[in-house]
Amino acid sequence: MNQTHQYFAVWGNNPALSAGELESVCRAGGIGISLVSYLPYAMIFGSDRELDFSFWKNLGGWIKAARKVEVNLEPEKLAEYLDGRIEEGRVTFGMSVYGFSQKERSDLYRGALTTKKILVERGRSCRLVWDDHGVLSAVTVDKNNLLDKGVELVAYKRGGEVEVYETVFVQEFEEFSERDYGRPSRDPRSGMLPPKLARMMINLAGVRASDNPFLVDPFCGSGTVATEALDMGYRHLGAWDISPKCWSDTQANVAWQLGRMGLDRKDVDFVGGVADAKTLGEQLDLESVDAFVWEGYLGPSDRRMKTLGEASKIMGEMDRLYQDVFSVLSRILKKGGVIVAALPVFYLGEGEYKWQNFAQNPRDFVMIDIKKIATGAGLELSAEKNIEKPLMGSIPKRGTILYGRADQKVLREIVRLVKN
Ligand SMILES: C[S@@+](CC[C@H](N)C(=O)[O-])C[C@H]1O[C@@H](n2cnc3c(N)ncnc32)[C@H](O)[C@@H]1O
Repeated sequence: MNQTHQYFAVWGNNPALSAGELESVCRAGGIGISLVSYLPYAMIFGSDRELDFSFWKNLGGWIKAARKVEVNLEPEKLAEYLDGRIEEGRVTFGMSVYGFSQKERSDLYRGALTTKKILVERGRSCRLVWDDHGVLSAVTVDKNNLLDKGVELVAYKRGGEVEVYETVFVQEFEEFSERDYGRPSRDPRSGMLPPKLARMMINLAGVRASDNPFLVDPFCGSGTVATEALDMGYRHLGAWDISPKCWSDTQANVAWQLGRMGLDRKDVDFVGGVADAKTLGEQLDLESVDAFVWEGYLGPSDRRMKTLGEASKIMGEMDRLYQDVFSVLSRILKKGGVIVAALPVFYLGEGEYKWQNFAQNPRDFVMIDIKKIATGAGLELSAEKNIEKPLMGSIPKRGTILYGRADQKVLREIVRLVKN
């Protein structure tokens, strides 16, 4: 593979999901990527294609992405580079530095100030954006217009070598927040999928919007999968829920999202209604769906699970529900089709949840028997494998990924199943 581009990409709070998402999107798009290295906060990889803002914008698991450039950070050289990069107006530049000691970071800061001075002496007006921690957040990059009117450089020290990257993307945090908190119908009680997670799950399905696949959420709640899918360019969607209130919330949110995009309901092929997922076979033809993406019922919110016995009893009920659901969905799925689902995990450990807990105390986690369910439904569990290595959050033995916040007792397990 001809790796002509190298990227330094900062992931969100679940590296395993972010890496899986990236790999899935690249595979679906015929883009060759290969791992260079993992850092605790980022992944460095080579790509045979340039990955610009529009590529990254469709992903949910990435905060920042920067492409490797040949720049010498020595002030004279850096001033020359910036002078050429920003031909008119003020030169605004920022820097994020990783892998340097505190002393080296101070030296880099002084160097950046000298660079600024050189540019001013050359008659350019110049502004440096710097953070004492050495890293500019996505918000800072955005608020200072560093992507469209300026430059952010990412310097990373690896061994004795310094690599320099130029930022091409930061996550559109305001857009995500608007789609999350700005939508007309929200129901925090039944639990709503964070839009970023919905996006990652859609991407894990590996079906491209340009192929116009039929994408269905059988547990739609407030419709986050549908609204994110619309934003990502999918136009053939289905959404069902057992609750009439949820179905009406979904319709309101879908109409709102269509309005934001300047579209109408007749511009898209959107079907759905009120139905128990176990009876979806009455709504949809056999082998008619390309991908199911959903967050399932996570359990009764009013039942407390203090003991293993209580948790196991509830999980037993869920196991039966999901056995039925997966076997129905499997029949409706086309051959080669994919199911990406978020299923409940009860965490019974003392103190806060950390992804490391799973390896240390697997018994603290009460989970659905997904392997048995998959086999019973004629589906195959399929994790992304090329960007191998067990990453923070992944459960290699199950081929699934854990997703949860430190303060949560009901976590989610992200599973990906394929109908072969
Ligand atoms: C965790 S919520 C999903 C939230 C949704 N992802 C969102 O973003 O709003 C689970 C949903 O499953 C629905 N549900 C529960 N049992 C169901 C069943 N057997 N068939 C279909 N929907 C069901 C609930 O009404 C609830 O809306």
